[in-house]
Amino acid sequence: MMKLRSVGIIGTGKYVPERVLTNAELETMVETNDEWIVSRTGIRERHIAAPDQATSDLAYEAAVKALKSAGIAAEDIELIIVATVTPDMTFPSTACILQEKLGAKKAAAFDLSAACSGFVYSLATANGFIQTGMYNNALIIGADALSRITDYTDRNTCVLFGDGAGAVVLGEVPEGRGFLSFDLGAEGAGGELLKLEGGGSRCPASEETIRSGKHFIYMNGREVFKFAVRVMGTATEEVLRKAGKDKSEIDLFVPHQANIRIIQFAMQRLDLPEEKCVINVDKYANTSAASIPLALVEAVEEGRVKEGDTLLLVGFGGGLTWGASVLVW
Ligand SMILES: CC(C)(COP(=O)(O)OP(=O)(O)OC[C@H]1O[C@@H](n2cnc3c(N)ncnc32)[C@H](O)[C@@H]1OP(=O)(O)O)[C@@H](O)C(=O)NCCC(=O)NCCS
Repeated sequence: MMKLRSVGIIGTGKYVPERVLTNAELETMVETNDEWIVSRTGIRERHIAAPDQATSDLAYEAAVKALKSAGIAAEDIELIIVATVTPDMTFPSTACILQEKLGAKKAAAFDLSAACSGFVYSLATANGFIQTGMYNNALIIGADALSRITDYTDRNTCVLFGDGAGAVVLGEVPEGRGFLSFDLGAEGAGGELLKLEGGGSRCPASEETIRSGKHFIYMNGREVFKFAVRVMGTATEEVLRKAGKDKSEIDLFVPHQANIRIIQFAMQRLDLPEEKCVINVDKYANTSAASIPLALVEAVEEGRVKEGDTLLLVGFGGGLTWGASVLVW
């Protein structure tokens, strides 16, 4: 049997736009208050893209840093995947736009749509390509500008989301390091719970789709919450089993940053103390595909990740989808 290569993260970078939208400012926009938002979600502020910044611009900033930290030139990158649900436009893909901006002429490029699970789905995809030798490296970016599809008159959703991008470079690593396991899944039956209907082939953009707000995120928060708590538990157990690791061996837990209460449920189930968990939902809110890489890269930048550490990444999102991975740094 062909020997598979070990694949790991060899460079990281992140970017959030400058503009900060605080809970206090949201209080002036919709009927809400800081106390409600903090107690229900843990969110205090979020970053919002400037009017002239599209998702590829956020992705570009994070990608440049990731390439620099990996010590790889853009023209040597062989594959670019952008995980996003807020592409610059329907097509060309944001990955192609980014390929041109970076000058990554050699790279195959495509977007991957798995909402907030998109980054982990993309890691698994690129891992397969590199493991088998089809490519030697890959640039993976989780980037979203959810502010562009958020209705700032709807208090049920507008307090929850922010914009940002996180990037990693993947390459071959010594045996025993890198990704040990993945667990990806989907429950299409729950697709109605979290969606953006307008502008697709079922419901093309029209005056009517605008009038009825179908160009904005629709979410059934309570049902998504239940799904999230359930799959954060089952996906972490499954991905640990596949990696042959016990929950006590996790050095750093990097969950999707949607809601502090969902993260706390997962930490309890894994018996993890707070110092083993990355939490930055307070600063960035839910940035969709950017959420896990923003948390991971921030932890790396703060010196919280050491060589040989075992990390568990896990996220959930629209689709409905989930994705988890165990890796050794
Ligand atoms: C959205 C969410 C924070 C709501 O929290 P909750 O505890 O479930 O709150 P409820 O749905 O019970 O709503 C309670 C009340 O607060 C109100 N409310 C909603 N948003 C509010 C806001 N921003 N400010 C003040 N009140 C608000 C609701 O209208 C409701 O009022 P009612 O009882 O009079 O109808 C929570 O359901 C959640 O986080 N869900 C998962 C969302 C998620 O992760 N999405 C992304 C997936 S990738």
